[in-house]
Amino acid sequence: MMSNFAVILLIIMVIGYNDNAYGVVDEYVRDDFPADFVFGAGTSAYQVEGAVLEDGRTYSIWDTFAHAGNYDGANGDVACDGYHKYKEDVELMADTGLEAYRFSISWSRLIPNGRGPVNLKGLQYYNDLIDKLISHGIQPHITLHHDDLPQILEDEYGGWLSRKAVKDFVAYADVCFREFGDRVLHWTTINEANVFALGGYDVGVSPPGRCSYPFGTSVYKISNCTNGGDSTSEPYIVGHHLLLAHASTVRLYRKKYKATQHGFVGINLFAYWYEPYSNTIEDVKATQRAHDFYLGWFLNPLVNGDYPEIMKKNAGNRIPNFTKHESERIKGSLDFIGINHYATNYVKDNPSNLEMEIRDFLADMAVTLVYGSAITTNEFEVVPLGLQKLLNYLKEEYGNPPIYIHENGQVESRNGTMTDTPRVEFLHAYIGGVLDTLRNGSNTKGYFVWSFLDLFELLDGYTTGYGLYYVDLNDKELTRYPKLSAHWYANFLQGKNTSGVFETMNVKETLSSSY
Ligand SMILES: *[C@@H]1O[C@H](CO)[C@@H](O)[C@H](O)[C@H]1NC(C)=O
Ligand SMILES: *[C@@H]1O[C@H](CO)[C@@H](O)[C@H](O)[C@H]1NC(C)=O
Ligand SMILES: *[C@@H]1O[C@H](CO)[C@@H](O)[C@H](O)[C@H]1NC(C)=O
Ligand SMILES: *[C@@H]1O[C@H](CO)[C@@H](O)[C@H](O)[C@H]1NC(C)=O
Ligand SMILES: *[C@@H]1O[C@H](CO)[C@@H](O)[C@H](O)[C@H]1NC(C)=O
Repeated sequence: MMSNFAVILLIIMVIGYNDNAYGVVDEYVRDDFPADFVFGAGTSAYQVEGAVLEDGRTYSIWDTFAHAGNYDGANGDVACDGYHKYKEDVELMADTGLEAYRFSISWSRLIPNGRGPVNLKGLQYYNDLIDKLISHGIQPHITLHHDDLPQILEDEYGGWLSRKAVKDFVAYADVCFREFGDRVLHWTTINEANVFALGGYDVGVSPPGRCSYPFGTSVYKISNCTNGGDSTSEPYIVGHHLLLAHASTVRLYRKKYKATQHGFVGINLFAYWYEPYSNTIEDVKATQRAHDFYLGWFLNPLVNGDYPEIMKKNAGNRIPNFTKHESERIKGSLDFIGINHYATNYVKDNPSNLEMEIRDFLADMAVTLVYGSAITTNEFEVVPLGLQKLLNYLKEEYGNPPIYIHENGQVESRNGTMTDTPRVEFLHAYIGGVLDTLRNGSNTKGYFVWSFLDLFELLDGYTTGYGLYYVDLNDKELTRYPKLSAHWYANFLQGKNTSGVFETMNVKETLSSSY
């Protein structure tokens, strides 16, 4: 007999399910997904390669940021030594059954001066990596900029604060398309364009670590904005230049390469799901504002040709205008949207922010975010419904564009725990959620676990890990060890039933109990 408690719980779950009319497919196999849907895992250059001054590579802004002490002395000088171990890593990917590998090219390895001559050793490395992937039937999905602008361009003209970065980026992209485009179909211009602008130029927690008092986040080392910056305007200026660079790159690809290479060029955004904190009209409108600021900032120009009205209103003269010509060029310059999704947060209206005399992007948004993730346990809550709602929102708001889930995964402290059951539960639930949205017409084309290996993390250095494989930093060989999640993902990719073991998992089916 069921206890009263269980009965009540069941009722709540059923009501929650009906309210939202979303389901998470609990039991599924690879073949339930379309054959052309790809499953992979990802890394990025600075986080995996190491060899930062080898064979002609020069520093990027991320090297500089790390060497400034932002990670308690840790840096990506060695990272996973992927530069030397790429062959065995690709073998490991093949053993795991990855259908695609998402990685980034280090601009300062390929073109050490930022512009001009190509470094033949860098070129060789990426050619070898791509060839090795192809020989195992693994699709390369390449990102061109993953927080790592060449430092030389930062020094010369202030990096992305200058419009000059647009021209240099397009020239770099041109080299990549020319050299690698015969084997690569999927290109992402900028990783987490929104977070790059906010982390790097508003709160100062990521490269190049710029901000202005009082907007810097005190959690990190360069807390008081000693690096310079202006949080009130720089994020908007950088966002503007990223959009121009992206659009010009897409234009270049379409004019010069598309007819022969037949590939696709997209941009990547970090995407929380936002849920209203309460049913009040104020919180509901605030939630829309949060979507407009985080996603609409880039997607409205790319789909409709201009920033959302609310951003222009609240940021005033601090957000640049597009000329008519730029607007036309940007509109439609998108073959797919890449999203990195980890968590769902709740949004409360906060109109008092707009009364502040000086405002940054976050104040312009006029909301208070209530973090839904269980920060106390240092793990993300399992809320596949948040990803499902996000995919549905992109479908409805932006005309059902092709979407790649470029990053999704579970964080854990990095201390050698091989039985990463929470990660398996997380992946199992989110992939099941994606299947449900596909069945409801979402145009999602692929799913990449973040990350393939435990990497040098943007915010945490080596203290946390998201990897399917553990990398032992105390071992000179940096041996890779499969965690339970690697076995689980391999089973799934090899077509096996992966449901049984995880029947008891505690997956949140509705969002309502979080507030
Ligand atoms: C399914 O798609 C329709 C149309 O976009 C949408 O209104 C509905 O909320 C979606 N339902 C689920 C469960 O995703
Ligand atoms: C940070 O900088 C501001 C303005 O320059 C100054 O007023 C404040 O005391 C500094 N705070 C710390 C903790 O150094
Ligand atoms: C953008 O255009 C609007 C309308 O013409 C104008 O009011 C505003 O000052 C312009 N913003 C900037 C930053 O030039
Ligand atoms: C890893 O670290 C976490 C948090 O510090 C701790 O709870 C856990 O027991 C540790 N596991 C191992 C295997 O050391
Ligand atoms: C998968 O495993 C579950 C749990 O063991 C079982 O109920 C289900 O029938 C299996 N599904 C398939 C397609 O084999």
